[in-house]
Amino acid sequence: MGLFDGKKGLILGVANDYSIAWAIARYVMSEGAECGFSHLPDRPDDERQRNRRRVAQLTDKEPQAKFLLPLDVTRDEYMAAIAEKSREEFGKLDFVLHSMAFASLNDLKNDTIATSREGFKTAMEISAYSLLHVAHAVQDCMSDSGSILAMTYFGGEKVVPGYNVMGICKAALDAAVKYAAFDLGPRGIRVNAISAGPLRTLAGRGAGVEEMLLFYERVAPLGRNITHEEVGRAGGFLLSPHSAGITGEILHVDAGYNIMGTPGRLLEDLKQNANS
Ligand SMILES: NC(=O)c1ccc[n+]([C@@H]2O[C@H](COP(=O)([O-])OP(=O)(O)OC[C@H]3O[C@@H](n4cnc5c(N)ncnc54)[C@H](O)[C@@H]3O)[C@@H](O)[C@H]2O)c1
Repeated sequence: MGLFDGKKGLILGVANDYSIAWAIARYVMSEGAECGFSHLPDRPDDERQRNRRRVAQLTDKEPQAKFLLPLDVTRDEYMAAIAEKSREEFGKLDFVLHSMAFASLNDLKNDTIATSREGFKTAMEISAYSLLHVAHAVQDCMSDSGSILAMTYFGGEKVVPGYNVMGICKAALDAAVKYAAFDLGPRGIRVNAISAGPLRTLAGRGAGVEEMLLFYERVAPLGRNITHEEVGRAGGFLLSPHSAGITGEILHVDAGYNIMGTPGRLLEDLKQNANS
């Protein structure tokens, strides 16, 4: 018996096999879940359909993957089509993973106070508002004990230089998780987020993940970075009935980094360097 036998859900936000969404998808499918997937729409002039192909290369090999549809969260019609397809294919959805974010590299490189107006609006729309948009679109086809999960980062709680405008988006996303949890609570639908430590992914690269990996390894209580598999299993937990009493929660999967009030063991190294 798998934890997700008979369960059906949506995985939104796979770009390639490094994506956090793929790590969570692999885990839930290995436990029996059937999933529908999204990919970023391809430009009409891209005959090779690169975005679709990159995700299809993964999902085509998985018998548990039931459909793959385009999704741009800035346009309502895509989520409406995905909700409609979910109803046709699955009847009810037991879980939905929201694992999407975007900010322009220009804005990420600049000081936060230099963020462009348009860049701010786009980053907030794709990275924070989209959770409300997705929750609203799927609510009618979710089962009464369904679970929605978003992906967030510590840069929304404290200042992480380089994370800049995305930190503001994550603060908004964290609040959106809680307000959506309140709205959907009477239906028994839960909304949570995982705050993951740095992982090498497409989005991670844009947000300065390499520096963070070095720092986390030295500062986090566990003295190491997290793995994709660890986020996969924690995501599975929050999407499963095992977390039935939990909603509006931000669960840190970061080797304990967020509990630190000083750079911890890294301070010892700094002291030694100062004395040598
Ligand atoms: N990688 C990390 O270190 C890390 C840490 C904590 C949280 N996160 C969060 O995890 C989530 C997934 O990111 P990832 O690291 O797996 O990178 P990723 O690049 O694999 O995933 C980001 C996804 O967002 C999608 N996306 C961007 N704009 C979109 C739009 N307009 N419409 C629909 N989808 C769109 C992309 O297609 C991509 O699939 C993001 O919310 C990210 O902020 C990442």
